[in-house]
Amino acid sequence: MMKEKLGKIRQEFITALTAATTPEEAERVRVAFLGKKGTLTEIMKGMKNLSPEERREIGALSNAFKEEFEQMLAARMTALESATIEKRLAAEWEDLSWPTGLSRGAAHPIAVVRRRVKEIFTSMGFEVLDGPEMEDEDYNFTKLNIPPDHPARDMQDTFWLDNGKLLRTHTSPVQVRGMLSHKPPFKFIAPGKVYRNEAVDASHEHTFHQIEGMVVDRNISVANLIYTMKILLSGIFEKEVAVRLRPGFFPFVEPGFELDIHCLICGGKGCSVCKQRGWLELMPCGMVHPNVLDAGGIDPEEFSGFAFGLGLERLVMMRYGIDDIRLFHGADLRFFTQFSS
Ligand code: FA5
Repeated sequence: MMKEKLGKIRQEFITALTAATTPEEAERVRVAFLGKKGTLTEIMKGMKNLSPEERREIGALSNAFKEEFEQMLAARMTALESATIEKRLAAEWEDLSWPTGLSRGAAHPIAVVRRRVKEIFTSMGFEVLDGPEMEDEDYNFTKLNIPPDHPARDMQDTFWLDNGKLLRTHTSPVQVRGMLSHKPPFKFIAPGKVYRNEAVDASHEHTFHQIEGMVVDRNISVANLIYTMKILLSGIFEKEVAVRLRPGFFPFVEPGFELDIHCLICGGKGCSVCKQRGWLELMPCGMVHPNVLDAGGIDPEEFSGFAFGLGLERLVMMRYGIDDIRLFHGADLRFFTQFSS
């Protein structure tokens, strides 16, 4: 009788375990048969009422069943667990190579040309310096040979800040910072953003970029300056471009020059970018004024130098034939996706 009952329990166990489709269901089967109040456990508990002979036989059989149940449970559990993982993997799987419909980003044209300018100068041994955009009047003007009340301060309309400082109007204050932190000979460039309180048109922005350059050594002359400018322009344009050097006034250089580039938008005929002149002011430059070297702690009797202040937007406009500076601050993707590094 007992034997038959055990056989029936085994059948029921197999049916229940086969029907279990999740690890949780298999666990419920374990509890129902092998738990404290499980069917097989109850049989084992009731064995004390059997005759010694029956107890031996039923004891051995139920122990064997218990062991068998445990093995079957373990196997089923493993199978169900891996099936659950497979199911999740199948549900959560994503093909990362599938086209998403999003277009690829592109570097901003200002960044592309700035990177190129940096490459050209670092390959000639120039260091790249940085300076603050919120600057002291002293660095932006005074130490550059522009004393208070000097009319040259009006050449650059300044955004003054409540704390007495200003938004730098050019990258030239980095000249002063560079001289104070370096012992000559040295050569560096300093790319950065500058700000001017002026009306915006096709070739003027209130916020734009310059790249300052400075070389200080013994016996530096205008010839070194012109040579360096030529290397820069041929590196950027990768073709002959017409340039002209004319006298220019900046209190921090003597002599000072304006390097103009033949307008590549109109081919020199005259347009809104070059203000019908055919030439565009690109890069003022000159020999560092002795007063500026002095303010930077450098003896002008022993050292000389040249400096330049490249207008990055204008260079980019000439490089790519862009006819309006306002496009750089716009958000028109049709414009930005045309450039790549
Ligand atoms: C200066 O800022 C001098 N610090 C440059 C310099 C450095 C001279 C070292 C000598 C030695 P200027 O104000 O001309 O100079 O500006 C330099 C260049 O910045 C211009 O040639 C032009 O390319 C660009 N630039 C000036 N104003 C604007 C503007 N509003 N928008 C876009 N580019 C501008």
